[in-house]
Amino acid sequence: MRYHQSAADICLKTDENPALYILCRDGYNDFYSGEVTGSVEGIKREKLCGFSGKEYDCSMNREIYRNASGFIVSYKSTDEPLLFNEMKSRLNAAALQKRGEASADFNVQNYEEVVAEIKREDFIFMAHIHPYMQKRDIEGKTTDYEIYLDMLRELLPMLEKSDTMVCQCKIDSAVQMEYSNKELTALLAEELRKHGFVVEPQKAGTVISLTVYDKQAYMGVSAMEDNVSDWTGGVLFYSKNEDIICRAEFKIEEACKTFGIGLAAGMRALDLGAAPGGWTHFLSRQGLLVDAVDPAELSDKVLQMDNVKHYKMTAQEFVKNREKASYDIMVNDMKMDTNESVDISCEMSSQLKEGGICLMTLKLPKTGAMKRIKIARKVLERDFSQVKIRKLYYNRSEVTVLAVK
Ligand SMILES: C[S@@+](CC[C@H](N)C(=O)[O-])C[C@H]1O[C@@H](n2cnc3c(N)ncnc32)[C@H](O)[C@@H]1O
Repeated sequence: MRYHQSAADICLKTDENPALYILCRDGYNDFYSGEVTGSVEGIKREKLCGFSGKEYDCSMNREIYRNASGFIVSYKSTDEPLLFNEMKSRLNAAALQKRGEASADFNVQNYEEVVAEIKREDFIFMAHIHPYMQKRDIEGKTTDYEIYLDMLRELLPMLEKSDTMVCQCKIDSAVQMEYSNKELTALLAEELRKHGFVVEPQKAGTVISLTVYDKQAYMGVSAMEDNVSDWTGGVLFYSKNEDIICRAEFKIEEACKTFGIGLAAGMRALDLGAAPGGWTHFLSRQGLLVDAVDPAELSDKVLQMDNVKHYKMTAQEFVKNREKASYDIMVNDMKMDTNESVDISCEMSSQLKEGGICLMTLKLPKTGAMKRIKIARKVLERDFSQVKIRKLYYNRSEVTVLAVK
């Protein structure tokens, strides 16, 4: 099966600029599960996220979803109320029962309903989802290995030998385990290979998902394109290194992967609220020419770069005194009231090329977050043709917005 990127329309739009392409993804912790009835036969979901440019080949028969007894959803634990509201409002979840610190049961009518909603791509707080066909009790000891292998063997008849596999294992447990995600992944991959399957994460069209919560394990099989994310639990981890200026750099990197934003040397970028310079550093390292706007100091590391120009002023002053420019991408991570920040992005949209991208964060208040998000979307849609909003793994009290002119 051929997979077309979620924002194929955006891809088309930016065809004249092949370096700029879009697709999506997101990330997180925690999970809950819900009962599944019905089938998702015939449903082809466009992915929210994945590896840029990847095509997914999967000849798996979707009828296997009929064997699913539930689904595991990943989200960020701090967003639990927002995620639950989102799930309830979109999936008519009749009953929501929290089971543990990081899990809950959802009763939804059927899995088809879930997948159809995922296709709409407007979940903000859901990071990942996978169906499960096997559920077993485990001890957290290496003696569990036989249980996992047995679960996998039960799934084997549902798999197509011609499909490339990936195993995604996630231990989401406060209980100390004798093994790690990595060890579980290797265990399952080895077993698949023993049975003649090709296991290759970067090319996989079929996913074996295993989520372990406390003393319970959930395993399922799904087509990669029916998952919200290509990454286990939707999480992409970056390890801190001396090269980065601040943690915010991971945030823009994750956003670019999530939304599949391709950057190329020579593109022009505007960074509003640039200090201390993480986002500017990320953009300039890839050869973009960056106008960095912030009244605060930028790190010497970015100031020394030839392709960075610091405008030591507020965004409002920059807007007033701006020279005519034509940016490929505008980023805005200003610590500012969401309404005001959105207004500035809209005002600056005239400086973006057609098909240009605005990537911004919305700093959310403790209460009324959803209301703010809704207003922001509405206002942005006046000046931008596409608006997507996601809570990313590296977002704290904020969400990330992709708006395409
Ligand atoms: C979260 S930090 C940005 C971090 C930055 N993205 C990075 O990677 O280093 C928020 C920044 O917004 C800036 N800011 C707040 N109000 C601003 C305004 N009106 N105009 C420009 N920058 C502003 C602050 O000075 C601060 O440096």
